[in-house]
Amino acid sequence: MRQIHVNGASVQSRILIGEKLENLVRYLPEDRQFKVVVVTDSHLMQHYGDFLRQWPVILTGTGEKNKNIESVSQILSELVRLEADRTTFVVGVGGGIVCDMTGFAASIYMRGLRFGFVSTTLLSQVDASVGGKNGVNLMGFKNMVGTFQQPEFVLCDPEMLKTLDEKEFRAGFAEIIKAGAISDADLFHLLELSAPRALERDSQVLEELVYRSVEIKAGVVSRDEKEQGERRILNFGHTFGHALEHMTGMLHGEAIGIGMTIAAALSVRMGLLPHTEANRLKALSSAFNLPVDTALDMPGLLLSIRKDKKREGDALHLVLLNQIGHAVVQKITFAELEQLTHDLRKYF
Ligand SMILES: NC(=O)c1ccc[n+]([C@@H]2O[C@H](COP(=O)([O-])OP(=O)(O)OC[C@H]3O[C@@H](n4cnc5c(N)ncnc54)[C@H](O)[C@@H]3O)[C@@H](O)[C@H]2O)c1
Repeated sequence: MRQIHVNGASVQSRILIGEKLENLVRYLPEDRQFKVVVVTDSHLMQHYGDFLRQWPVILTGTGEKNKNIESVSQILSELVRLEADRTTFVVGVGGGIVCDMTGFAASIYMRGLRFGFVSTTLLSQVDASVGGKNGVNLMGFKNMVGTFQQPEFVLCDPEMLKTLDEKEFRAGFAEIIKAGAISDADLFHLLELSAPRALERDSQVLEELVYRSVEIKAGVVSRDEKEQGERRILNFGHTFGHALEHMTGMLHGEAIGIGMTIAAALSVRMGLLPHTEANRLKALSSAFNLPVDTALDMPGLLLSIRKDKKREGDALHLVLLNQIGHAVVQKITFAELEQLTHDLRKYF
């Protein structure tokens, strides 16, 4: 088991990579006055319920449609019913949806309870649970309401990935490809070499890929927790990806796969990235069966991007590549983006 530390403003978070679910108790408060409450969903209960039932369990619904204020309100009501107070420790056990909602509920209940996560999807192990962003969607727009609050720990057990649905499993690789593309050419190359073993869910390979990705994200977040500068590079593929997720309902990782292809094509068009490097990115996404479809409703996407919370007035920060393993951020206006995306197909 290997650990990575993330320095948050209020809490230092420990990411435990390769740790077993059975050892969860080691990371819970030793003080007997602390009461533990688990928040999870029905799929996790189906596979891991026998272990989790040793604590009171709050169940949430599954799917992005349930990641909303109403679900958080239900978690808060259940905490009241269980007589949770400042001596309650909340553990979210699940993918990004459970963890985003658990972190949000725990950080606002009685102005903040201590909490930790067991991340159970590949996407949440490499991305969703690292970085302290918690929150829910509002009126169909992604993560419009939330907090910055680090979990005390994130337990990542590669064995738990074996019960994950194939489509969900593959979607998780998008964020690993992103980590390599923006800041680690060696990780990118490792992915090119190890795709077949990773897709067979080889625990050793998965642990290494999760570790390398978390190392990158943790480093960036420790230096820029509130996304004032460097953290923006983590949004590579997300400007278009979030809009696609909103418009089509595809999985987060799938949408990021296409979003990265678009961002790479823009990088080529702007003269930053050689075409051959953009093709490597596309080939790697395809190797993990991520969509790289470029038959897109570009005007619709641009309209959706205009409503993104990350816009700044009439402009936005676009994350581009100038080589595999290095991202650059450029502030551009929507008018410029419209021009750049016109007839972009030539650059895919
Ligand atoms: N907070 C962040 O920084 C951050 C970053 C990236 C993504 N996210 C958010 O994460 C969400 C997506 O998360 P996700 O991809 O983990 O999906 P998810 O949370 O919806 O989980 C996917 C599905 O797999 C099931 N599942 C989870 N783990 C399982 C396991 N081990 N075995 C069997 N079934 C299992 C779940 O019940 C669910 O049905 C999005 O809402 C996205 O916005 C947040």
